[in-house]
Amino acid sequence: MIYAANFKTNHTRKSTYAYIKALNEKLSVKKPDDKVYIFPPSTALDRYKGDFTIGVQNAYPAYNGAYTGEIGLEQLDEFDIKTILIGHSERREYMAETQEKVAVKFAFFQEQGFEIIYCIGEPLEIREKGFEAVMKYLLAQFNGIDIHYENLIVAYEPIWAIGTGRSATVEEISTTHRALKKVINSKPLLYGGSAKPANIKEIASIAGVDGVLVGSASLNAESFSQMIL
Ligand code: PGA
Repeated sequence: MIYAANFKTNHTRKSTYAYIKALNEKLSVKKPDDKVYIFPPSTALDRYKGDFTIGVQNAYPAYNGAYTGEIGLEQLDEFDIKTILIGHSERREYMAETQEKVAVKFAFFQEQGFEIIYCIGEPLEIREKGFEAVMKYLLAQFNGIDIHYENLIVAYEPIWAIGTGRSATVEEISTTHRALKKVINSKPLLYGGSAKPANIKEIASIAGVDGVLVGSASLNAESFSQMIL
C-alpha cells in the first residue's frame, strides 16, 4: 500500500520537523512493501531522513525565472525533491488551474523525470448524475496527460468526499477504481477523500485500491501512523 500525507496549507517548518521525528519512531515497524509519501507546505521542504519520500504539493513548470510567488525546479533541486502532486481539485478550483495548465505542468515534470501523483475527481453534481457521467468527467481529466508515463501514480479523489469526514462508499470506490484501472492499466491507483484510521482497513481491502492520499487525518503523526501500521 501507498500512504501519502498531503498537509495542504497546514504545518510550519518547525512542526513538520516534530511530525517527522514522531513518524520515524513509528515507521520502524512498518511493512517493507508499504510506501509513505509526505507533502509538506513548500516553506517546510528539506532533506528529511527516514523511510518515506518527500514531495511538493505544487510547483511552477520552469527551472527559475520571473514567476512571482511560485517555486520552480531550482528550489526543488536544493532539497532533491523529485515527487510532485499535480491536478489536485483544490488547485483546479481555487487556483483556477485549467486542464490545459495542468497538462503543461504534467509534461514539464514528466520531462524532468519526476514521480507524479496525478489527482482526478468529480464534484457532487456529477456523481448525482450517475456513473456514466462520473467516468466521462474523470476521463476528461486525462486530456493532455501521458497516462503511460512510467513514474505516474493516479489518485482518485471525489471532491464531495474531501475534507468532509464522509468518504465514498466501498461500492463507489470499488466501481470507480475498477473502471479507472482499465484505462491506466498497471499504474498504482490511490483513493483520497476522508480516508482515516476508522475506515482505512475497509478502503485498503477494496480491489483496485493501491493506496490512499490523506489530508485531514494525516496532519497528526499519530493518526497517520495508525493508518499505516
Ligand atoms: P481529506 O483530503 O483526507 O482531508 O479528505 C484528501 C485530499 O485532498 O488529498
